Amino acid sequence: MIDTRKLGQDGVQVGAIALGAMAFAGWYGASDDEAGVRAIQRAIDEGITLIDTAEVYGQGRSEALVGRAVRDRRDRAVVATKASAGSPAYLHQAIDRSLKHLGLDHVDLYYLHRVDAAVPIEDSVGAMAELVQAGKVRAIGLSEAGPQTIRRAHATHPIAALQTEYSLLQRDPERDLFPITRALGVTFVAYSPLHRGLLTGRIRTSADLPAHDWRGQVPRFQGDNLAANVARLGPLEALATRKGASMSSVALAWILRKGQDLVPLVGIGRPENVDRNLQALQVQLDETDMALLDDAFPIGCAAGARYPEAAMASLGREAPLPGAPAGG
Ligand SMILES: NC(=O)c1ccc[n+]([C@@H]2O[C@H](COP(=O)([O-])OP(=O)(O)OC[C@H]3O[C@@H](n4cnc5c(N)ncnc54)[C@H](OP(=O)(O)O)[C@@H]3O)[C@@H](O)[C@H]2O)c1
Repeated sequence: MIDTRKLGQDGVQVGAIALGAMAFAGWYGASDDEAGVRAIQRAIDEGITLIDTAEVYGQGRSEALVGRAVRDRRDRAVVATKASAGSPAYLHQAIDRSLKHLGLDHVDLYYLHRVDAAVPIEDSVGAMAELVQAGKVRAIGLSEAGPQTIRRAHATHPIAALQTEYSLLQRDPERDLFPITRALGVTFVAYSPLHRGLLTGRIRTSADLPAHDWRGQVPRFQGDNLAANVARLGPLEALATRKGASMSSVALAWILRKGQDLVPLVGIGRPENVDRNLQALQVQLDETDMALLDDAFPIGCAAGARYPEAAMASLGREAPLPGAPAGG
């Protein structure tokens, strides 16, 4: 069994690394469903118990694969999915759709994927609390929420987890979010902990991205930005070599050592990457190693925006206040 971490103040224990099933919907090029199912099953057998999906990942396709993979392992899996919008009516329908795709009677963690610009967070979380009451959801999470919205949400119903991007190349949450999640006892689920594959060292130029890969639209993976971001990897690569570990293991070990309240959520589409990522739990980083990485990857160091322009407004969003005009 691997190390575990708690989801929220009183929540379940989960494996210290979580598995993300987004790539099963083809975001990062063609995906192999059978390899994906085997990866999830291998992960659960090895103690990676928090399995993450969302309705928007292939409009139920990723959820269906997760459901298939966990069927014989339901008691050991902690299944998380996400709703795409925040109105109470939408949430009540969306959970039923997700449960149908998954073939489950409840999910362990239900996230609001993005704060809804038109709905006070009190209304969204209030509706999610009704889903808890109804037994369809065990715990509630937010994704990419702004600091004040996290506080308001938590005052409405305990928030078990905030899922937001965090890695060596995306450290803003240390400054903007950790003070709040830590004060409230909210677990920080760090998505894209390998910076969508960049921190594995396997993406050096845009030619390394598969055809029809969404990352091609992300400024950080384009032209001079990509070259600058790859050029920054030297100290990580050198440290990994000194440790006899892979770059990805060191990148994950850095997150794990940043706090017991962090769970890196790695996108894993094939079983062999489960084993590779578990090696991160064996990598020991001391204070000198941590300082070296912190210095090499300061907050704001990545070149280019982390999402295409159209998606930026929904990141770190603050919800409208109750009684404010819709969309305000
Ligand atoms: N809440 C949100 O808005 C949001 C946004 C993005 C992602 N997420 C969640 O976070 C999860 C992870 O994010 P992500 O997939 O964007 O980024 P990531 O975990 O940083 O990177 C995933 C990529 O790295 C590769 N990889 C994983 N382990 C590896 C290893 N040990 N060696 C070499 N390559 C390795 C994967 O390849 P293979 O697929 O071939 O294994 C995949 O191409 C998603 O699946 C999703 O659940 C949430």
